[in-house]
Amino acid sequence: MIKRIAAAIVGIGVAGGVGFLAYAWYPAIAPVAPPPPSSFSAAQVERGRVLAAGGYCAECHTRTDGKRGVELAGDYKMDTPFGAIFSSNITPDPETGIGRWSEAAFKRAMRKGISRDGTQLFPAFPFDHFTHMTDQDIDDVYAFLMTREPVHSVKRDNTVGFPFNIRLEQAGWKLLFLHEGPLKNDPSQDAEWNRGAYLAEGLSHCSACHTPRNLMGAEKASAPYDGAPVDNWIAPPLNEHNPTPVVWTEDEYFKYLRFGSAPLHGSAAGPMSPVVHGGLSEMPESDVHAIAHYLAQIDHSATRVSQDPKAIAWAMQASMKDLVGPQVNPNAKLYAGACAACHANAGPQPVEGRPDLALNNALWLDEPTNLFQVILRGIGTTEGISTVSMPSFYHSFSDADLARLAAYLRATRTTLPPWTDLEKKAGEVRKTLPVPPVASSH
Ligand code: HEC
Ligand code: HEC
Ligand code: HEC
Repeated sequence: MIKRIAAAIVGIGVAGGVGFLAYAWYPAIAPVAPPPPSSFSAAQVERGRVLAAGGYCAECHTRTDGKRGVELAGDYKMDTPFGAIFSSNITPDPETGIGRWSEAAFKRAMRKGISRDGTQLFPAFPFDHFTHMTDQDIDDVYAFLMTREPVHSVKRDNTVGFPFNIRLEQAGWKLLFLHEGPLKNDPSQDAEWNRGAYLAEGLSHCSACHTPRNLMGAEKASAPYDGAPVDNWIAPPLNEHNPTPVVWTEDEYFKYLRFGSAPLHGSAAGPMSPVVHGGLSEMPESDVHAIAHYLAQIDHSATRVSQDPKAIAWAMQASMKDLVGPQVNPNAKLYAGACAACHANAGPQPVEGRPDLALNNALWLDEPTNLFQVILRGIGTTEGISTVSMPSFYHSFSDADLARLAAYLRATRTTLPPWTDLEKKAGEVRKTLPVPPVASSH
């Protein structure tokens, strides 16, 4: 589920006066008669479908709280520290959707975050990334949206309070943080890298979750891909600060992004799951390779992999810790009883579908958030690798159980300092989750 960008809605009015108002004010673009679906070629609509998947439009434009809404009809609730923002109806309904939007109005929204009527839009809508798309790609998405079934649907009102509800302030935010226009080709890099950069920075906006944000809710330019909290999970760093013991190489990235799991790391669960299964899975394999190629340069994997055989050997040994011989440590017993049957790996490499915890981000991040999420929720068949799942321990583990299991795993399956306040943190993660049915194993 893609919610995030909590803080991103705060636009701080950085400037006053007439000049600023002139900058902030945009005219309405005249409504047009809804273009007939026959005015778009089937090939263009298909290209648009793939691009809309790659930009997760339906993820954020379909209501999920309460009763599930119609795809793309909007009203998806994004919780922010300032209140809730609801997404717009982007089906071609003439009254409540974008049916009367011209291509020019749609392009202005994608590039500048301005609605057809001239209203400033909040960057909860990731136009700061979509702005980098080419004209052709934006036109193709438009063709796809305008050929959907129109749905009459009015979204709920935002509950963002004063002063953050003043939309004009968004103009100040944009002045500082919007780098408008298509991404420039970097001639010092090869074509695959440039394609990967285009997708990662633009359409598929990886950094929207993986880069920390400043107080104004914009991605920190000084810390690209340094990892960030998102929807009560942590999106791990994707640069050289990624803490997992084995380096993310192009090949590992590709497997993870294409199949939902990387053998030497783990699974795409939680908010990362729809990125893989709803988004990248619709894109051509070459595009996923391009993103992997681009990321491998961001984390400099080519210069860092030499220690990997050592790290794998160490992890395989850690994986079997306390599992043979008499178990005296009660925490080791807890692990052996609840988890080891599916997670212990005798090596020399972890088995597919059996993520090794000593290699997984859940144990290596600064906070135990992802570990608690995974244990409490379990992992459904729509997440990670589709052929396997993990049961939820929501009902069988207390917060104290979670705390001692986490402390034990951190101490025996990593080389990092212990986590603190574990029981409290377990309770905090639990509070964010809906109570699963008893005996649910997803
Ligand atoms: C991370 C969530 C998110 C994603 C992903 C997303 N949107 Fe949105 N979008 C929003 C929100 C929230 C708004 C409403 C912003 C506001 O009210 O200021 C919005 C507004 C819009 C608008 C303006 C509609 C209007 O009536 O003013 C358009 C057009 C739009 N989105 C198109 C898209 C397209 C096309 C995609 C996929 C390529 C997409 N969005 C992906 C969250 C998202
Ligand atoms: C909606 C937020 C969101 C978006 C967008 C997103 N990610 Fe993620 N990503 C996450 C979260 C949360 C995790 C942790 C998931 C887990 O551990 O199962 C994650 C995990 C990952 C990991 C594994 C890191 C590790 O050390 O285990 C990789 C690689 C990754 N994402 C790449 C990408 C790429 C590439 C994109 C863009 C195509 C992307 N992500 C877009 C939220 C996001
Ligand atoms: C019945 C088998 C089973 C049991 C029992 C089980 N798991 Fe899992 N676990 C899995 C599978 C399978 C996956 C990978 C799921 C996927 O890729 O779809 C997984 C994934 C994980 C991940 C990686 C998630 C990610 O995002 O990369 C962690 C961490 C984890 N399990 C921890 C635990 C802990 C801790 C326990 C004990 C409390 C446990 N598991 C018990 C089967 C199990």
